[in-house]
Amino acid sequence: MTVLLPAQEVERAAALLRAGDLVAFPTETVYGLGADARNGRAVAAVFEAKGRPHFNPLILHLPEAEAAFDEAVADDRARALAARFWPGPLTLVLPRRPECRVDLLAGAGLDTLALRVPAHPLALALLRGAGVPVAGPSANRSGQVSPTTAQHVMDGLVGRIAAVLDGGPCAVGVESTVLDLAAGGAALLRPGGVPVEAIEAVIGPVARPIPIAAAAATRTLRSPGMLLSHYAPALPVRLAARDVTAEEALLAFGEPLPGAGAVWQLSEARDLREAAARLFAGLRRLDAEGARLGLRGIAAMAVPQDGLGAAINDRLERAAAPRG
Ligand code: TXA
Ligand code: MG
Repeated sequence: MTVLLPAQEVERAAALLRAGDLVAFPTETVYGLGADARNGRAVAAVFEAKGRPHFNPLILHLPEAEAAFDEAVADDRARALAARFWPGPLTLVLPRRPECRVDLLAGAGLDTLALRVPAHPLALALLRGAGVPVAGPSANRSGQVSPTTAQHVMDGLVGRIAAVLDGGPCAVGVESTVLDLAAGGAALLRPGGVPVEAIEAVIGPVARPIPIAAAAATRTLRSPGMLLSHYAPALPVRLAARDVTAEEALLAFGEPLPGAGAVWQLSEARDLREAAARLFAGLRRLDAEGARLGLRGIAAMAVPQDGLGAAINDRLERAAAPRG
């Protein structure tokens, strides 16, 4: 049984976490699947509930930067970024401290940790109540579309976790930006809620990952968890569509192409924030509509690459990448 907890029950959710149970919780990006990161059994249960490969490490969530930097070593760049973007959708990969008690499986045995302070009042209340670093991968089955509502979490994980704390729809809608500072340089591992240009304004140049199309061609993985076929709806996805047939569902951005069998509007006004917030719900809805109507695929209109567009296009390219 999985209970749906309203916001007032955040203390009960924290008690479940302390007891080693799994609790999904809202953040500003997507819902996370929370577990006490120092509890080996709870961490193992996260991988089990998600069906996640053990080589893919989890992000740790803390209520403030000082708590995060108790677990990993922060240099001046990390401190500057934390001061500017935390709480918020930025995850920093930093060298793990020797005394850190986070379960080794949570970090997939690496000598680094991915840390973030989320900007959501319920998440922060939960983290304070839990009093431990909370492992929080996105609360979906591995390889499926990330959840931006409590109902999405239920759809994928009901019966596999103790509870979902309901905080309504997520405001940002795409996951955090993951930045690796552990190896000396600064490398973008995943575009996300903080545009890389905003990070560069604080710390200077950041190395970009190789484009997904090239990675798909050579089957190169960019970081432990950067599986190519990710965020995959059931229907095949076609990118940068300039036309659409009645047998396809359309993911529209701006004025919709005519003739689709079903339509989800990301943003009529071509606003990238609105589009990011509506992306994952749209992929889920078009998948369901497609199954109901017998459609053959999803055609996605082009989205510009600037600002949050980089994160939107990254998720769409993964959704369109070769499967399996
Ligand atoms: O917005 C988010 O980041 C959401 C919310 C719930 O906070 N969480 C999330 O977690 O997206 P997850 O587990 O789905 O994605 C974590 C990403 C993976 O791509 C993983 O490989 C990478 O971060 N990661 C975690 N630890 C890492 C490490 N030590 N080194 C490199 N990459 C790491
Ligand atoms: Mg995920």
